[in-house]
Amino acid sequence: MQIKIAKDYAEMSRLAADMVSRLVESKPNAVLGLATGSTPLGLYEELVKRHRAGLDFSQVTTFNLDEYYGLDGDHPASYNYYMWEQLFSKINIAKERVNIPNGAAADPEEECRRYEARIAAAGGIDLQILGIGHNAHIGFNEPGTPFGTTTSLVKLAPATIKANARFFEREEDVPREAISMGIKSIMQSRSIVLLANGEGKADAVAAAIQGPVTEEVPASVLQLHPDCTFILDEAAARKLTS
Ligand code: PGA
Repeated sequence: MQIKIAKDYAEMSRLAADMVSRLVESKPNAVLGLATGSTPLGLYEELVKRHRAGLDFSQVTTFNLDEYYGLDGDHPASYNYYMWEQLFSKINIAKERVNIPNGAAADPEEECRRYEARIAAAGGIDLQILGIGHNAHIGFNEPGTPFGTTTSLVKLAPATIKANARFFEREEDVPREAISMGIKSIMQSRSIVLLANGEGKADAVAAAIQGPVTEEVPASVLQLHPDCTFILDEAAARKLTS
């Protein structure tokens, strides 16, 4: 595991954008795995700037980690909406190369199988961007999720519902389920970059990097990945012991 400590959120975002840019420049048809939430907003802003300076996304394929189940893609709190708003509408990505689980699928199990098949058909993910939950979840894989899971319909932990209530009018409006790439799907990515900023993530980060590898700390599985980089700001790195 590689750990990079940035002085602040802006630098964390730039370091992540450097990794994405380098990949897309060297492999124009790269397959990117993308995350939502507050953490990658600065990364997406950087990528938009770099696109305006010439970075070409026309051959890039993307797979998002997850989507709320029961929300239509045009719901303002859906991750589909977020991705178009924050990134896709501002770069030259081809709509048909964008993949996000369909949160409105009538048959979620079928949607999960279809999603895994599309990742495989694209040749797998070259670089997966991850955030981390306060409970160390990755994607919506909450503590206790078996490491062998592939894309599935999952239940959100009460802590996650609380944390994500800020994107909804009321906490009751947060969907209780989501379609999420599994831990195994994430681990199959050729490289992984996990971003974390702020003191609130410090415990989760320390447990993921320095704690035992356990299903109770989903991000700890990343210790087993051959090419995983954590990019942290100083606050998120505060609980690491040297
Ligand atoms: P956040 O979410 O970026 O909004 O903190 C991260 C996560 O829950 O994985």
